Amino acid sequence: MDRLSIHGGGPLNGVIPISGAKNSALKLMAAALLCDQPLQLSSMPNLADTRFMARLLEQLGVRVDWPAGSSVCRLDAETISSTIAPYDLVRKMRATFNVLGPLLARIGHATVSLPGGCAIGARPVDLHLKAFEAMGADIVIEQGYVKAAALRGLKGAHILFPFVSVGATEHAMLAAVLADGETVLENAACEPEIADLAFCLNSVGARITGAGTPIIRIQGVSRLGGGRYDVIPDRIEAGTYAIAAAAAGGEVLLEGARGEDLVSLIDHLRLAGVRVVAEERGLRVSRADGPIHAVDVDTAPHPGFPTDLQAQFMALMTIADGTSLIRENIFENRFMHAPELNRLGADITVRGREATVRGVRQLKGAQVMATDLRASVSLVIAALAAEGETMVNRVYHLDRGFERLEEKLGRCGARITRLSGSI
Ligand code: EPZ
Repeated sequence: MDRLSIHGGGPLNGVIPISGAKNSALKLMAAALLCDQPLQLSSMPNLADTRFMARLLEQLGVRVDWPAGSSVCRLDAETISSTIAPYDLVRKMRATFNVLGPLLARIGHATVSLPGGCAIGARPVDLHLKAFEAMGADIVIEQGYVKAAALRGLKGAHILFPFVSVGATEHAMLAAVLADGETVLENAACEPEIADLAFCLNSVGARITGAGTPIIRIQGVSRLGGGRYDVIPDRIEAGTYAIAAAAAGGEVLLEGARGEDLVSLIDHLRLAGVRVVAEERGLRVSRADGPIHAVDVDTAPHPGFPTDLQAQFMALMTIADGTSLIRENIFENRFMHAPELNRLGADITVRGREATVRGVRQLKGAQVMATDLRASVSLVIAALAAEGETMVNRVYHLDRGFERLEEKLGRCGARITRLSGSI
């Protein structure tokens, strides 16, 4: 396992190109299963997770043409040869569960392993399954597998989600595009990735309106063709580098980042004393003179503060002037980075879903270890602001979601090196 050595204390200055959004790309790849002609996706992030999804699609019979290092991926699902997604593939990456809905809609049946819990919480899929049942699917859970069948096709349905779920909204939408009649999704998630999925599906023949609002209407169609689609820029990657620049100091241009996807983060950064300016090429972020101010955070579904930026913002708050309260409202166990940040000299106390972060004057380098993707990158941010060397272990988490992280930060002056093997 690789690790990262980071010598902190210097500012970041330069241009950081923002990659395509991981959490959009994964669902667009699943959408290819609905298309009987090739779907070509561009701005595809080269990540462990997207490459893993490509492997699963290949197992299902999809012809995947995605040369190493390329950001263009062609998926041809004219023939699907298997409708089984085994435990080993779904266990390693939850988003692979998203093949269930498309297989059910296109082929009429599928057997997909339950994803199980993960480091940030239990993460059940009950809302996904209830949506398929409302569309007329028979669902049985046997030996850890979901066996779903709708041999005469799915039927349009009115689905009211009891709470907002990104995954259930996307998954229901993926299944409903080929259902017979209209499906209405109420209390739908409004994340930009959902609008992106709808745009892509509409570009190959689906009829979806309202994606990006709490009510989505889907008129079922009998088939989807193929086409080309460009993945949206990754708002979480952009937000992460914005916070990194705030923590380390300096000025970065986040090339391709869209301010409209990051309104809540930008508000919080400005309150903290960080300058964020939307330009034609992207977002320019600079640390104004003076201290970082303490700002409270409450994570919430979009357009609220994203849970996927909570760990990174906490890293920034460790060096703020004052005390901030950070409340995690989406996942029940998403503070594992707090004790690791404390190893760097931060002063964080966690009580249930609330973390109290008392700002300190200076972090100091240490050995740290992370348990999930966003937690790992929060340690990188803290390391950039810390004095001396920090060793971030278990870098494979970062490789799941951040494309060429060392190179992007290195070009802005960060002293960051990947070493083989961890302790
Ligand atoms: C997506 O997860 C993202 N993953 C997550 O990003 C992100 O944190 C999350 O949305 C919230 O924005 C991908 O897109 C691949 P949810 P998802 O369904 O869809 C509960 C990252 O780091 N719930 O909105 O799984 C669930 O347990 C990842 O890139 C149920 O109880 O999130 C959670 O508490 C981490 N039953 C809450 O809802 C269900 O059937 C919101 O989860 C579904 C969800």
